[in-house]
Amino acid sequence: MAANLIDSLLELKVQVPSLPEPADEKELDALRVKYLGKKGIVSLLSQGMPSVPKEQKPEAGKLLQEVRTGIEQMLERARVKIRREKIQREIEQEFFDISLPGANPGFGARHPISAVMEEIVDIFTGMGFQVEEGPEAESDYYNFEGLNFPPEHPARDMQDTFHLTEIEMLLRTHTSPVQVRAMEKYGPPLSVIAPGKVYRCDADITHSPMFHQIEGFTIDKKVTMGDLKGTLQTFIRRLYGADTKIRLRPSFFPFVEPGAEMDVSCVICGGKGCRVCKHTGWLEILGAGMIHPNVMKSSNIDPEVWSGFAFGMGIERVAMLKYGVDDIRLFFENDMRFLRQF
Ligand code: DAH
Repeated sequence: MAANLIDSLLELKVQVPSLPEPADEKELDALRVKYLGKKGIVSLLSQGMPSVPKEQKPEAGKLLQEVRTGIEQMLERARVKIRREKIQREIEQEFFDISLPGANPGFGARHPISAVMEEIVDIFTGMGFQVEEGPEAESDYYNFEGLNFPPEHPARDMQDTFHLTEIEMLLRTHTSPVQVRAMEKYGPPLSVIAPGKVYRCDADITHSPMFHQIEGFTIDKKVTMGDLKGTLQTFIRRLYGADTKIRLRPSFFPFVEPGAEMDVSCVICGGKGCRVCKHTGWLEILGAGMIHPNVMKSSNIDPEVWSGFAFGMGIERVAMLKYGVDDIRLFFENDMRFLRQF
């Protein structure tokens, strides 16, 4: 029996190289089952192992392994060959019409809000401002208190705040908190431009619950309202063209004194009067002013030594005027017919 097993294995070993080559996957599978399957020839032979005398076991074991590996290698070579032939056949049968027009993948482009934001940031970095960012989930301190909004002050109500009650934070209602953060971080002298998202509980055709602002400020010795006006004029001329005029009107914001709102001559009618400027010739574009001494003090800056100006504007409004868009929601609906126009 033992001699028989070794003989049978030797015989099989000799046969393996001349086994018929399988022509397709089906034949390949059949061959695999026949030799290597659970009830296949190799497994049947291996059942004879226990009765092989001890001294012949190593030889029988080695042979069995050789036979199994030999068959496996043969099957693998056949599998690769069958597959290669199949691909070759497919390539030959395929017809490729090189005259068909290609499918247009469609190129993406910068969102108009991002484009305007980058343009504004560029103008200010060109004037020496450094870019800073702050968190959108903000503390009451940075959003209000540090900006000279006393507790219970009615000015807090002007900003329809989203409160994150569980963590006693809020969604920042403006980018002004970055003023306080940057003053604390760097100290004066300092010129910062801070773009970002802000949130207010408010929605109609000119208000979105999320929108973008850019804040800017300069602190140095002897900074005046004249510096503010000159900086803003340079900015507006670069943004809307050299003919654009500006004017400052007195206004109130807790974190500046004096405070102002800035108008630009209507970018649609050039100041003659039209529907967009409600026939005034002017468009309100940003808030600004001289940084309030209390704001400086809360960041440990001595207002007797340093002075500064600040301004803040909504990007959507700037973009709406620049592109003549009359509904803010268009910016956030991501309708390709709208976005493709930029
Ligand atoms: N933070 C103000 C707002 O969101 C805008 C603003 C007004 C910013 C005056 C300023 C400023 O820096 O000086 O309405």
